[in-house]
Parts: sequence; C-alpha cells; structure tokens
Amino acid sequence: MRIDIITVLPELLKSPFEASILKRAIEKGLVEVHFHNLRDYTDKSYNQVDDYQFGGGAGMVLMIEPIDKCISTLKAEREYDEVIYMTPDGDTLNQKMANSLSLLKNIIILCGHYKGVDQRVRDLFITREVSVGDYVLSGGELGAAILCDSIIRLIPGVLNNETSALTDTFQDNLLAPPVYTRPAEYKGMKVPDVLLSGNFPKIEQWREDQAQKRTEKLRPDLLEQ
Ligand code: ADE
Repeated sequence: MRIDIITVLPELLKSPFEASILKRAIEKGLVEVHFHNLRDYTDKSYNQVDDYQFGGGAGMVLMIEPIDKCISTLKAEREYDEVIYMTPDGDTLNQKMANSLSLLKNIIILCGHYKGVDQRVRDLFITREVSVGDYVLSGGELGAAILCDSIIRLIPGVLNNETSALTDTFQDNLLAPPVYTRPAEYKGMKVPDVLLSGNFPKIEQWREDQAQKRTEKLRPDLLEQ
C-alpha cells in the first residue's frame, strides 16, 4: 500500500511513522508513506497557500491552486483508489472503514487547516471525507495519523501473532475481554482462575462471555449495529 499525505505541517505528522509498529511496517516494505508539503506547490510569494474567505469572516482557507498542482502531480504518476479529505464534517472513522481502506493500493490523504479548503477542492478531487470524531482539531494532521495507524496495522504481515488484529476490540462489534499478566496475585487482587487453568476451550468461552458482558455494559450501541 502507498499513502501520500498532503499537508502544510509535515513535521506535525512524521513522528508516529518513526516508531514502533508503523516504523516496522515501512521498513518491511509493507507500506510506503510519503509527505508532501503544500508550500512546495505554490508560486506565490512567502510560499502562501491560504487566503481570506470570500464574503468575509474569520479564518483562512487553503487555496485550490497548490492542492490541484500537488494532487495532479501525484495522479500523473499512478492511479489512486481514494483521495481522502480529513475534516470534522466527514464520515466518522470506525473499524469497518479502517478494514475496507486497508485493502486499497494507493490513497491520498489531504489535511485541512484553518477554516478548511476551498469547497471546489472537495467538489473536484475528494472521493471520501473522514472525521476522527465529533470534536475539532487544529488541522487534519493528527486525524490523518490516527487514520493511517488504524489502516496500516491491518495490512497482512504488519502485526505478528502476538499483536494480531483479529482479537482487537471492535473487530466483531465487541469490545475486547480483559487481559492479565504476571503476577497471578497483586496486593490481594487475583487473576481469574480460568486463565490459569490451561483449559483452552474454557478460556476461549470465558473470553467470549467477558467480551459480550463488557460490550453490553459499556457500549450497548455496538450490539444494535
Ligand atoms: N480536522 C479538524 N478536526 C478534525 C476531525 N475531527 N477529524 C478529522 N479531521 C479534522
């Protein structure tokens, strides 16, 4: 998979890809992530990429021209399955969306900033708008990092057995069961006996029951989906 991220603040985005699972996925060649600074695509003085909005009002808007140049340059080199715009008014990211995006070959992610982008960018280039939740971030970068993390860990080979995504919370619309590690007793608090029993069918059954109970208690809405 190849991900091209267009941003005015690449430095805000890079560190999540330089550690742990995402770093390893890149090193293994399972995913390529490329950052494109929008300021490299403007002819204006001071590398200007934003301007006041027509009609007045507070906040700057990213201009269409540098975005057009950047997206057109990328599209001339390869075909893209999706051109995603990060925005609080997009479809809210969930596990199902991450699963389906993880199957794609090439995607572009455009990070919004200030008041957002000129509407014509959305009309012309964007195939999908994604929000990471009902709150407003200062820009799309942190949302893009969340989106990329949720996608990349699902690419076959990125996680090993111990970190398998199959047992993640949400994979079957259930929250994950509780987990424990050594010591078996801490300050009088004991690990459930079943987990120490070595009886794997019983352990599996216990985990399923716990996942069901936890979901009923904490996120009953998931069971209605
Ligand atoms: N940009 C600003 N807020 C955002 C959000 N909630 N999700 C995605 N991109 C954003």
